[in-house]
Amino acid sequence: MSPAQLISFARGAPSLDIIDIAGLKAAAVRAFDADPAGVTAYGTSTGYPPLRKWIADKHGVAVENVLITNGSLQADAFLFDHLVKPGDDVVVEKPTYDRTLLNLRTLGAKVHQVTLEPDGISTAELRSLLDSGVRPKLAHIIPNYQNPAGVTLSLAKRHELLALAEEFGFTIFEDDPYADIRFRGEALPSMLSLDTKGVVVHACSFTKTICPGVRVGYLVGPAGVIDPIAKKATNLYISAGQVAQGLVHEFCVSGDVDKSIATVSAALGERARILGESLRTRIPGVRFTEPDGGYFLWVDFPEDVHVDKLLPEAANRGVAIVKGSDFLLEGGEHSVRLAFSAVTVDEIDEGVRRLAEAVEAVRG
Ligand SMILES: Cc1ncc(COP(=O)(O)O)c(C=O)c1O
Repeated sequence: MSPAQLISFARGAPSLDIIDIAGLKAAAVRAFDADPAGVTAYGTSTGYPPLRKWIADKHGVAVENVLITNGSLQADAFLFDHLVKPGDDVVVEKPTYDRTLLNLRTLGAKVHQVTLEPDGISTAELRSLLDSGVRPKLAHIIPNYQNPAGVTLSLAKRHELLALAEEFGFTIFEDDPYADIRFRGEALPSMLSLDTKGVVVHACSFTKTICPGVRVGYLVGPAGVIDPIAKKATNLYISAGQVAQGLVHEFCVSGDVDKSIATVSAALGERARILGESLRTRIPGVRFTEPDGGYFLWVDFPEDVHVDKLLPEAANRGVAIVKGSDFLLEGGEHSVRLAFSAVTVDEIDEGVRRLAEAVEAVRG
């Protein structure tokens, strides 16, 4: 591997070798053959009907509760825009997905970051916040293999959050694109499936299980949330791309999506393991928890490693990382997020070797 070749631990996207190109091509042909009128039409903003039905069945909800969007980031943006007005309180995890922070702050929300523990958001800290009089419109939670920290919300905390949402009248926004990318352990039920009071709105996506380029994600929620967002989507763009949705539908009903999930999960599980081994071997004093699934691993360096210095040193050596501080309102100066999704097995140890050199340069 040439030293000039960039090794990126920055992007939360699957590498090309684990995307089922042949399966996607075949699914596109089947979509055009099966429903040429449907996939070439405008369609409606709620989504391509056969895919909407497939998603509804997957989550055990009525089709009316599903809205398909151009990736789940658009689902997030629609929901934030619908629920959050300037000055409204919102709760997010600490750390959380950088675009969530950015989008909520752009909307003028008062963002409260609540500590993320190895078993998910601190419900004790959230309760104290609520007891102090803060009344959030929503709590944004990434329950499985969290971006950026890799941790998973325990079953007990899922129940606690539902009880808090009911007691204090806020929406739980369950942003869940990583649920199916599991390396070990049992899948936990979504809060959507545990919800009996209509307090959960759920978002998911085919980005992490198929590929980001299809740009197909969705929201599942009560009609009171889905209907006004669908109206807004109609005025904005009439409908999300029907060709992509038709392709995704064929890919799903054929069972290819399950094969793709198995491929991605196996590959990422191996990459996470190798990344953990390399970090332990090459960078003394580094701390991290190996995730049970997903795309990311969060690394804490010793106090003398500042990310503002580390990033350029790493970039000079051809390795890309993301600063911990991007995921926090304050702090994170000694932490980074490493994505192991876009690197191949061969690149990981070399990437960590370069990172170790950058750490040495910063400390030296
Ligand atoms: C928690 C979370 N939500 C939403 C997204 C957006 O994904 P997409 O729009 O590709 O579905 C991501 C992507 O990294 C994410 O990590």
